[in-house]
Amino acid sequence: MRTVFFGGANTLDNFIAGPGDDIGWIRHGKEAMALLGKMWASLDTIVMGRKTYEATRRLLKEGEAPPDGALSGITSYVLSRTLSTVPAGTNLVREDGVEFVRRLKGERGKDIFVMGGGELARSLFEASLIDRLHVNIHPLLLGSGVPLFHPMTRPIPLELEDCRPFKNGCIYASYRVLPSA
Ligand SMILES: NC(=O)c1ccc[n+]([C@@H]2O[C@H](COP(=O)([O-])OP(=O)(O)OC[C@H]3O[C@@H](n4cnc5c(N)ncnc54)[C@H](OP(=O)(O)O)[C@@H]3O)[C@@H](O)[C@H]2O)c1
Repeated sequence: MRTVFFGGANTLDNFIAGPGDDIGWIRHGKEAMALLGKMWASLDTIVMGRKTYEATRRLLKEGEAPPDGALSGITSYVLSRTLSTVPAGTNLVREDGVEFVRRLKGERGKDIFVMGGGELARSLFEASLIDRLHVNIHPLLLGSGVPLFHPMTRPIPLELEDCRPFKNGCIYASYRVLPSA
């Protein structure tokens, strides 16, 4: 069974973006990039919610490029019940995201990265489909914005696997999601 990762850069007060999708506060430090590079090498599939997809498209238009070679050999899926088309190179999934990820997980392949956002992740956590959580916690209280974790219908037990402070003030932590009691 393939491993499903979820994670990203968040503020200490649980935001992955500020109002207006602002991610200008994210520190792209060398240490985070090195860990990210390792994770990319283990994947062949990215799954994202429609809002993350739209935010990523805006960034690409503004000239923000993904890390070199990051997307080669990777299949991307956008989950949406409202979009009717996406440009070539991305796959639009209009079915329920939980059933889709459950099926993907059972197929042969490398690992799967749920790139965001928190809204999609909530349904996947509740369905026990996420195996690993990686967070790059930024030293910032943003006060408002887009949450990483939403209220859930049950607690999700985690086991700490790695934790390290970065020189730029961020804290990286990775967790294994434990089976619920
Ligand atoms: N800091 C970081 O590392 C990071 C990483 C990723 C994203 N972000 C930011 O996060 C924001 C977007 O995150 P978000 O949590 O607001 O939204 P999101 O999860 O990216 O997208 C939500 C949308 O995805 C679709 N969706 C969600 N769950 C689904 C399911 N179970 N089945 C089918 N479709 C489903 C729906 O699209 P429809 O409404 O079309 O049906 C829903 O409105 C952006 O601002 C982005 O920049 C930050």
